[in-house]
Amino acid sequence: MKIKTFDNQTIDLPIEENISQKNIIALPGLIDPHVHFRIPGGEHKETWETGAQAAIAGGVCTVLDMPNNNPSITDEKTFLEKKEIIKKQLKNTDINLNYFLYLGATENNINEIKKLKNEIVAVKMFMGSSTGNLLVADLEKQKEIFKICGELNIPLAVHAENEAMIIENTQKLSDSINNITTHSKIRSREVAESAVKQAIKLAEIYKTKLYILHCSTKEEMDLIRLAKQKNIDVSAEACPHHLFLNDTAYEKFGSKVQMNPPIRTSTDNEALWTALIDGTIDTIGSDHAPHLLSEKANPYPNSPSGIPGIETTLPLLLNAYNQDKIKLEKIVELTNTNAKKIFNLKITDSWVIVDLDLEKEIKNENLKTKCGWSPFAGQLIKGWPIYTVLNNKIYKL
Ligand code: DOR
Ligand code: ZN
Repeated sequence: MKIKTFDNQTIDLPIEENISQKNIIALPGLIDPHVHFRIPGGEHKETWETGAQAAIAGGVCTVLDMPNNNPSITDEKTFLEKKEIIKKQLKNTDINLNYFLYLGATENNINEIKKLKNEIVAVKMFMGSSTGNLLVADLEKQKEIFKICGELNIPLAVHAENEAMIIENTQKLSDSINNITTHSKIRSREVAESAVKQAIKLAEIYKTKLYILHCSTKEEMDLIRLAKQKNIDVSAEACPHHLFLNDTAYEKFGSKVQMNPPIRTSTDNEALWTALIDGTIDTIGSDHAPHLLSEKANPYPNSPSGIPGIETTLPLLLNAYNQDKIKLEKIVELTNTNAKKIFNLKITDSWVIVDLDLEKEIKNENLKTKCGWSPFAGQLIKGWPIYTVLNNKIYKL
């Protein structure tokens, strides 16, 4: 049947069900530039079998997967081994998911970056430590990574938190270290602002194509807006949890909503929304970072940082559309067009068919991610994907 696309074209899909009376529209399949499918080393949290199913359920047809695995993906050997496992795991599904892999920066893997320049989608650098053991905190070493990525014209994606400030704050706040709200104080807004400022400075010097992951504060938005005005090659990502959650969620969810960078304030939510609309933010990445509920149940600070999200990004955005917070065209830019440009992705067309009027609750038992939970469970959402169309296959959701 014929289905209208977001830009007033039509596509013809062999869908049996009569959906012609519904408020249906086709959007390009989402590109999620930020997922952690946990292979190798975290297969109890996610695999590419469960991750691919979760992707399809969320209307995501292309993922860019992070290197903070165990072992970390920092050289040719670990990179190729990871790729083999992914191929095997995807073969066990009927999903031919589009995927691209980041290479993790270390203090001494410039040669590996050079070797793999045509295989990797981008380099990921942790300026501050997070899940896993990747870290390049030293300024001189950071400069080397910016320089080589600039020279090779590989995008450099940064986890922008200042490690020295994190360590200092952890010591200062040791009296309240068992309180989850301390997480947002240790990884304070200044921690993020300082690293983003540094990253922009280095991108300007070394002409690096900089991608700032999971922006969370108003100050970062101000810095990035200014950098763009100065024509520095910087793009920015926001995650649903920083758009839709803030520090009031700690009371209800505790360490379930612990992630790096942490949730901020409602003022920051608003600043991020403003930045989405005015183009300061280029992409929405889920930062799908599954951890088991049993792991999350460890008392802070022994609880892991990160939340699942690949299945809820699109419903949350469609719900925001129904609340007049965002236009469909903007959703497409943020979840497809801009990522394609930034990472220079060569992918075939894919679609997600959405029912803009469908109302349904997010439920843990409906999720495909192996970790099986979402902080958004229980929310009634208006606007859901109902089919995902990828590589000549139609998946009914
Ligand atoms: O909260 C986070 N979780 N932030 C990160 O940087 C990593 C991620 C993970 O892999 O769990
Ligand atoms: Zn991440």
